Amino acid sequence: MKAKKVTLMLATFALAVALGAVAACSPSGASDLAETGGSDWDAVVAANPDDPYVASYEAEDPATLITMHKKLGNTCESCHDEEIASMVGTFDELVGPSEDTLATREFCLNDGCHSWEKIVDSTILDGDKTVYNPEGLYNVHDNHRGDVDCGQCHSMHGQPTLNCVQCHYMDLPEGWDGFE
Ligand code: HEC
Ligand code: HEC
Ligand code: HEC
Repeated sequence: MKAKKVTLMLATFALAVALGAVAACSPSGASDLAETGGSDWDAVVAANPDDPYVASYEAEDPATLITMHKKLGNTCESCHDEEIASMVGTFDELVGPSEDTLATREFCLNDGCHSWEKIVDSTILDGDKTVYNPEGLYNVHDNHRGDVDCGQCHSMHGQPTLNCVQCHYMDLPEGWDGFE
């Protein structure tokens, strides 16, 4: 029988925290931009419906992280500046972040959006038992790999990938890919 994922934090509690926090948070720190520049972004989005980043926002696919962030009230300008706006429409497909300010720890933990204390023990996956890990429990956020950027696993607009699976067997959460 396959073991189940152990979630130490109640999902409802996490959601309540997220709802409370996101109302005031802005990863790009661009709350002013959101007030003054909103119409520019509206025009950019309207002019580029086929851009894969715009399309992922509009698709409302529950498997994509952007959908939950959209439901919490985030728009393009909550997370991006004018430089990103100028890139919209130039993509044929989703690519990884092309600058190191996207999906970094600073970005996602900025302005109270996410609290590391609340995340750090939230996701422990069952996997192979080894001499070094006799219980076979793998904390994806707290491990020997150190504090790596969120975007190494999570993807805002696309498919998330768990890099631990390069070296360990563990049960992937639903909707996640591992490197084969
Ligand atoms: C909650 C934050 C968030 C929101 C809202 C958001 N994005 Fe993103 N965006 C990201 C992150 C994080 C990345 C890095 C790649 C990834 O994780 O998919 C990204 C990547 C991008 C990129 C690629 C940039 C690069 O340098 O490669 C574009 C273009 C983009 N987003 C456009 C948009 C548009 C257009 C919207 C609104 C329709 C939007 N984003 C809404 C967080 C966000
Ligand atoms: C090594 C890969 C990895 C890294 C790096 C990572 N995460 Fe995660 N995270 C996961 C996995 C896997 C899940 C479980 C997703 C699921 O169950 O669908 C998760 C779950 C979450 C959750 C939901 C937790 C809950 O309460 O159920 C949040 C919020 C989160 N991560 C935020 C972050 C943030 C913010 C960062 C960066 C500071 C980050 N993660 C870095 C892999 C990672
Ligand atoms: C490049 C290979 C590699 C990757 C990627 C990797 N590990 Fe490991 N890990 C090892 C090795 C080697 C050991 C020690 C021997 C063993 O247990 O197989 C280890 C040991 C562990 C242990 C037990 C002892 C300890 O140091 O905590 C845990 C738990 C663990 N890894 C979790 C993770 C998680 C979670 C990820 C993803 C964020 C991950 N590892 C990614 C190679 C890797």
